Amino acid sequence: MLLSFTYNGSPLLLALTDLEIVAQGIIFIFAGYETTSNSLSFIMYELATHPDVQQKLQKEIDATFPNKAPPTYDGLLHMEYLDMVVNETLRIFPLAGRLERVCKKDVEINGVFIPKGTVVMVPVYALHKDPALWTEPEEFRPERFSKKNQDSINPYTYLPFGTGPRNCIGTRFAMMSMKLALAKVLQNFSFKPCKETQKLQDDIDADLSQTGEAPPTYDGLVQMEYLDMVVNELLRLIPLAGRLERVCKKDVELNGVLIPKGTTVMVPVFILHHDPELWPEPEEFRPERGLSILFRNQEQRAGLGTA
Ligand code: HEM
Repeated sequence: MLLSFTYNGSPLLLALTDLEIVAQGIIFIFAGYETTSNSLSFIMYELATHPDVQQKLQKEIDATFPNKAPPTYDGLLHMEYLDMVVNETLRIFPLAGRLERVCKKDVEINGVFIPKGTVVMVPVYALHKDPALWTEPEEFRPERFSKKNQDSINPYTYLPFGTGPRNCIGTRFAMMSMKLALAKVLQNFSFKPCKETQKLQDDIDADLSQTGEAPPTYDGLVQMEYLDMVVNELLRLIPLAGRLERVCKKDVELNGVLIPKGTTVMVPVFILHHDPELWPEPEEFRPERGLSILFRNQEQRAGLGTA
């Protein structure tokens, strides 16, 4: 990995160090794979719960690649409906819910003074769900991104990949790999809600029917046992903070190990959540096991942290 420049007319070669190569590799894995695979999951969820959209997309795929022909770069690039479906999902589920920038110089915007050095937060999630910008923003409607409608979208209100000189460098690669994966899978399969999706929906419907058409209430949500179990089980399987850290306040000996004051102690949340001695078949998604933990010992739910 060499970068070549010229300096005073002579070639200058700059090489990345081993550490820099590893750092680049790690950032590509976290910034690239997690984001792409999570976005694909959200797209599949939307397709499973909107069969009409899924059918329309499958028609476009079959028309572009007849007889299950292998998808091509050019074909994928020109598929308008596929692009609309991906864009709309990234609006509803932007993976970076907020972006940050450091202000480079004192500036006044709309009467608000922002001093140099201030960290300014860009509320992507809130922008994507703002009813002043999107009619019925909670609804999944790929048509918002049709050729006819997309010109009316202000680019600064739709930021799934950020914007400006530090926007996502993987945008086009991510879009292309998600589209390729979707086309390949949808040529052969259709997505359907699974048992849990349906049960969750029934639970919500039952709760809503008790209260008529009223929006969900705090008390109603607190009482929803199965909803609670599904969320807990998901947080066990995929704890967003895979490890926690604490600094040791004084010398202490635990199980024969001396931990000197000032040591940073790592709490391996992900490993705890996947330990087969604590959870039978820990890789299985089983909402049934979630409830007992929550009520037995609230503090032990490392997913939400503890003192
Ligand atoms: C659906 C998939 C993806 C989404 C939603 C996404 C989203 C984002 C967002 C919101 C940012 C911050 C942009 C800003 O602050 O303006 C970002 C930065 C970045 N992304 Fe992605 N990304 C995705 C895929 C990828 C892929 C596949 C790669 C690499 C192959 C990648 C590499 C990066 C890098 C290196 C940065 C930091 C850029 C910088 O700071 O200059 N991303 N991404």
